[in-house]
Amino acid sequence: MMRVVVGLSGGSGAAYAQRLLEVLLQGGHEVHLIVTTAGLRVLRYEAGLEVEPDDLDSLVRVELREHLVTYGLDSVEAMPASGSANIDAVVICPCSMGTLARVAHGFSSNLLERAADVALKEGRRLVVVPRETPLSVVHLRNMLALAEAGAVVLPAMPGFYHRPARVEDLVDFVVARILDRIGVEHELVRRWATPEPGGACPWDEGEV
Ligand SMILES: Cc1cc2nc3c(=O)[nH]c(=O)nc-3n(C[C@H](O)[C@H](O)[C@H](O)COP(=O)(O)O)c2cc1C
Repeated sequence: MMRVVVGLSGGSGAAYAQRLLEVLLQGGHEVHLIVTTAGLRVLRYEAGLEVEPDDLDSLVRVELREHLVTYGLDSVEAMPASGSANIDAVVICPCSMGTLARVAHGFSSNLLERAADVALKEGRRLVVVPRETPLSVVHLRNMLALAEAGAVVLPAMPGFYHRPARVEDLVDFVVARILDRIGVEHELVRRWATPEPGGACPWDEGEV
């Protein structure tokens, strides 16, 4: 089982975070959740959820809360702030351009940014899931800086080759890529297989 810090910042795409939390906790993984102030606001606008900063547990179903640990954004003394903590991966999903910029430049102005900073310095897996379009040169430079520092920059860009029929299928596509990068097994989305020569989509031919 893995110990994963999940950070939800103020980028659009709260649904990705909700699904990521659900899949990790269903899989028995230990999740340490940090939500920025803007992240809470986006949750309200996008998901209609009124979540108080001291009640992050309410983001997941009661039966999934056993392995969920939540933190206040200012709790810089909390476990994820220390390099000595045994954290397997940090995922910031969605990652606002603000949080991305601060992590790229080592600002560490709250617990989430500090946890990401620690992941970089300790050589642990850091996955950031930015959502913005179009991207300015500033955004692109910050993403490059993060990638050069060892982070995985995994934009919330769902593909369409798995033939999504519902919004949930698009969400699962992105969450599946995140899980792949942190080494969590899943069966969220069918994996591509080699099509027959001249053939169409592999699963038209009964594969995968
Ligand atoms: C509904 C809503 C959607 C937003 N979507 C995005 C977005 O997709 N990407 C982004 O970088 N910022 C977005 N923002 C702006 C950020 O929330 C804002 O820059 C905030 O200061 C980020 O703070 P944080 O990095 O501490 O979470 C959005 C804000 C709102 C209210």
